Amino acid sequence: FDDANREAFRPFYHNTPVYGWMNDPNGMFYKDGEYHLYYQYNPYGSMWGNMNWGHSSSKDLISWQHHPVAIQPNGLGAVFSGSSVVDKDNTAGFGKDAIIAIYTSAGASQIQSLAYSLDNGMTFHVYENNPIIAADKECRDPNMFWHEKSGKWILVLAAALEKEMWIYSSPDLKNWTKESSFGHGYGAQEGVWECPDLMELPVRGTDRTKWVLICNINPGGPFGGSAAQYFVGDFDGKTFTCDTKPEVTKWMDYGKDHYAAVSWSNTPEKRHTVIAWMSNWQYANNVPTRQFRSANTLPRDIELYEGSDGELYLAATPAPEVNALRTGKALKYGAFSAGTKKVSRKLPVENSGICEINLELAPRSADKVYITLSNDKDEQTVMTYDLRNSTFSMDRTASGLTDFNKDFPAITVAPCPAEAKQRLRLFIDRCSIEAFEGDGRFAMTNLVFPQHPYTTISIAVDKGRCKVNDLTVNLLKVNN
Ligand code: FRU
Repeated sequence: FDDANREAFRPFYHNTPVYGWMNDPNGMFYKDGEYHLYYQYNPYGSMWGNMNWGHSSSKDLISWQHHPVAIQPNGLGAVFSGSSVVDKDNTAGFGKDAIIAIYTSAGASQIQSLAYSLDNGMTFHVYENNPIIAADKECRDPNMFWHEKSGKWILVLAAALEKEMWIYSSPDLKNWTKESSFGHGYGAQEGVWECPDLMELPVRGTDRTKWVLICNINPGGPFGGSAAQYFVGDFDGKTFTCDTKPEVTKWMDYGKDHYAAVSWSNTPEKRHTVIAWMSNWQYANNVPTRQFRSANTLPRDIELYEGSDGELYLAATPAPEVNALRTGKALKYGAFSAGTKKVSRKLPVENSGICEINLELAPRSADKVYITLSNDKDEQTVMTYDLRNSTFSMDRTASGLTDFNKDFPAITVAPCPAEAKQRLRLFIDRCSIEAFEGDGRFAMTNLVFPQHPYTTISIAVDKGRCKVNDLTVNLLKVNN
């Protein structure tokens, strides 16, 4: 789209709707070299309402092409979140390789509907015998996959107010049998449970796999509002059993702006790539954009790793395709040392300062290392490695425009295990900062609305010194 449609906070390399409101990514599948991304979409305005499935697609996971609305509301209600699969063996009878979407029809109650596409997800036909599941509780966001071992389709449905995930199975995507439910006091319980995803993931450095149940909750995230928790365990085709004690909560991302995270189906080589909505229900309708609201996160590949406490955790790293955003131009600041007086380096001014920062620290005698992004208006985002308490935090209280909602100013904190090196990747795109520990041991996604782009990165410590082994700032291509 052209420059006339460019407002100051429209991201360059994250998917956004050209016009209107977006929330959850959903219904994502991969086929014939293309990643399809649908999303909760209001085509009539930039606040939540009139839910349709908007549609973007990409061949490289970084440049997104916009398509007409894929599924529109009908007599059964608005089109809430769901998922899609490629029906390779024509189990549903709509045709070989038909794309089958199952989503929540939200009318007087929330029931589950099926729609199918015979043109690779460009247009959908709504099935005439909907609903295919009509549970007696408020249930939504069906997420399905083919389960090899039992030779059945599995669907996970969020029983939002029960704080449970209900598991169904089906031979044909149309007739579903409830097999079990998971929840019953596990994990974070404050808010509603929404947008599940269940998948088998490899454990890094081993030939083991484990099952992971993603469970988005709102409110009740670690810093208020929306967040994505997950459970690690086993799945036998009927029941999910969690390995950890009920009181343990694990978070996929430690920022405030990572919600409704779900994965693409049918990806090559059983790859597990997730994408989330980069906002928070606390203030999503109030963020200072106009023609559109909300962007997706970067696509991230996930796997499990064993922490020093013996527990399994999710590691999220930017999908390797993201590296293709680099223009080849970089500001290479190499190695230097920082003390209590901050050392500053310039960020690129081109393209509103969008960039990828790679930083490798060797803190030595410091307890705290401060990494500050700032502009000429004294707006700043401060990230802190607290080495005594093994945390990494991001403070956006003075990051730019923050007063549009009382819940926006915040300091978010991630555990930064001792085994994590101080290797940090930061992606900046006009109104967002995504921070990744080098090996994905934590991810932290936060929106920021600086009135001018950040132009400086500075490093300082509370005491002693910190060696910076390397600081490289990659310039990125402008895509969307
Ligand atoms: C999550 C959610 C889903 C629902 C959709 C409606 O953000 O509340 O549970 O399907 O948004 O837009």
